[in-house]
Amino acid sequence: MEILDGKYVSEKLKVEIAEQAAEYLKQSGRKPHLVAVLVGHDGGSETYVASKMRNCEKVGFKSTLVRYEEDVTEDELLLKVSELNHNPDIDGIIVQLPLPKHIDPEKVTEQIDHRKDVDGFHPINLGRMQRNLPSFIPATPYGITLMLKEYGIETAGKHCVVVGRSNIVGSPMSILMARNTQPGNCTVTICHSRTPDIKKFTLDADILIVAIGKKNFITADMVKEGAVVIDVGMNRETSTTTKSGYKLYGDVDFENVAPKTSWITPVPGGVGLMTIIGLLKNTLASANREVYPSLSKF
Ligand code: GUN
Repeated sequence: MEILDGKYVSEKLKVEIAEQAAEYLKQSGRKPHLVAVLVGHDGGSETYVASKMRNCEKVGFKSTLVRYEEDVTEDELLLKVSELNHNPDIDGIIVQLPLPKHIDPEKVTEQIDHRKDVDGFHPINLGRMQRNLPSFIPATPYGITLMLKEYGIETAGKHCVVVGRSNIVGSPMSILMARNTQPGNCTVTICHSRTPDIKKFTLDADILIVAIGKKNFITADMVKEGAVVIDVGMNRETSTTTKSGYKLYGDVDFENVAPKTSWITPVPGGVGLMTIIGLLKNTLASANREVYPSLSKF
């Protein structure tokens, strides 16, 4: 068993991104600029957004956090997104999910100019990704593909089982792994809450990607000997033994599953760190107008 080390890969790629950002600054006289919109005070969202902002600064991007209280109206939020769309000093816009119940996340996602949608959640980006056209790729699936590439994991012809069908991870991940790209060219099965006997499918997986949001959901008896296991789980539990006051658990029972695998990602130290890389790469690509040249240039 070998570890797919998110810390190692993300640090290495951050150095590359910082060099490219420095070159961009030299050429254009400005930094790539990401704006994050955060509504309310959800503990997980606060942590993730703070990490995104911190990492932007680390690689030489400009970052701006726009905060709203839980009771902001949908109209107010849509208006803000529209204003950010039209601001030429902004390359990337993300609205952290989940949003409060009275706000429709689909409306907000579609309000973001797809040419600044560095989360890759807009239907235009999703459709273009599926067609293998230039698009922003959702950050977590993007980060996973970068990790598979870094370790030279062969995916063509393999059976990839994705557990979870969320818009953020499972669904786009399944598209990427089935595309005619490297990584990709897998035969893909998607399992979800209505799949009877998930074990029947996971046991046949050469590559198992788990994004279901349940601690220790995948146990050793569900995994084939020699499989590659990618754990997207970020299950936060309060803890009295950690400085932050919480502890992260994956969706995979790492201790018992790891000995059966050829490669596995740990939690923490795996996919979570790669998500940031996906976001940074999308933001830099947007600043360089690599995906959508029609967005006004500086
Ligand atoms: N919530 C959980 N993951 C994400 C993400 O990648 N982007 C946004 N905007 N919200 C999230």
